[in-house]
Amino acid sequence: MSERSSPRVCVVSLNPAVDAEWRVPAVVPGEKNELSSERRWPGGKGINVARWLKWHGARPHLVLPLGGATGVELAAGLRAEKLEFTAVAIAQSTRVNVVVTPDVGTQLRFNPSWPVLSAAEVKRLVTAIEAKWQDADAVVFSGSLVRGAPVDTYARLVRRAHRAGLPVFLDCDGEAFRLAAREHPSVVKPNELELSGWAGRSLGTEAELLAAARELAQETGEWVLVSRGAAGAVLLHGATGERIAAPAFKVSHVRNTVGAGDAMLAGVIMASAGSASPRQWLKAGLRAAAAAVRSAPGTLPAK
Ligand SMILES: Nc1ncnc2c1ncn2[C@@H]1O[C@H](COP(=O)(O)OP(=O)(O)OP(=O)(O)O)[C@@H](O)[C@H]1O
Ligand SMILES: [Mg+2]
Repeated sequence: MSERSSPRVCVVSLNPAVDAEWRVPAVVPGEKNELSSERRWPGGKGINVARWLKWHGARPHLVLPLGGATGVELAAGLRAEKLEFTAVAIAQSTRVNVVVTPDVGTQLRFNPSWPVLSAAEVKRLVTAIEAKWQDADAVVFSGSLVRGAPVDTYARLVRRAHRAGLPVFLDCDGEAFRLAAREHPSVVKPNELELSGWAGRSLGTEAELLAAARELAQETGEWVLVSRGAAGAVLLHGATGERIAAPAFKVSHVRNTVGAGDAMLAGVIMASAGSASPRQWLKAGLRAAAAAVRSAPGTLPAK
């Protein structure tokens, strides 16, 4: 990536959502459960990464499909946060992911199985992404594939971005990840579970985890960043064999760990845009992740 203090980053968010959090005193099955509050904000991993990139002083530009009244709501939320974006209009409505948080008891989560994009919509989306990364210093693919997009959509995009000479940051999982990892993304960021899914085996010990991370790095030939929750993270390079591990920053009050990996990726992207060493990228990632776990979901700490 070119050396600049304010890198332009094209952030692809194929499956964005309005996140809704309903707070209730308790969930009582069969009864009318009265909400004490509802909070709604633009969600999805790509949007999280863009939000954190902006917080770091980068210039992210999101490319995402939006449809229906919820698409309009999400766009308004992005404008309110001054996050730049290119929206590709789709026929079906943008999803709303609902989290029910009771004062007592277990949190409940509901994620819709829509929207499903048509082949023509996927094509328009891919065209918009490729147009947008022309003026970017790096590109990020983050989050699940949207329904209707072929499973090799990320793989094809990574290959083309790589050929265009752009640093590519990839954070997704499952088959889409397996295929895209072969296309030499510059940095992939699985958590332990995603790495285990990629390896096709459980990773019970430190040695097993490192062996799987090494195999993944050999597959990409580039950097692999494995985030390990409270245990920190490890960064490995497929070609040089370099390996750097670091513990998580101490956080006295963990408020929310969802999205910590997205904040971490943004920190690494930002650091790697400058002249920092890989050890410093890792530190920047861990620092951003610690700031994220101290914050409420969908919110950023004051700078
Ligand atoms: N409980 C915790 N205490 C301290 N730090 C944490 C905790 N959980 C996460 N972190 C920090 O956040 C980083 C990323 O967390 P994690 O490995 O859970 O990412 P993730 O599963 O990809 O998250 P997401 O996909 O929701 O963004 C960790 O490497 C660590 O630095
Ligand atoms: Mg993650």
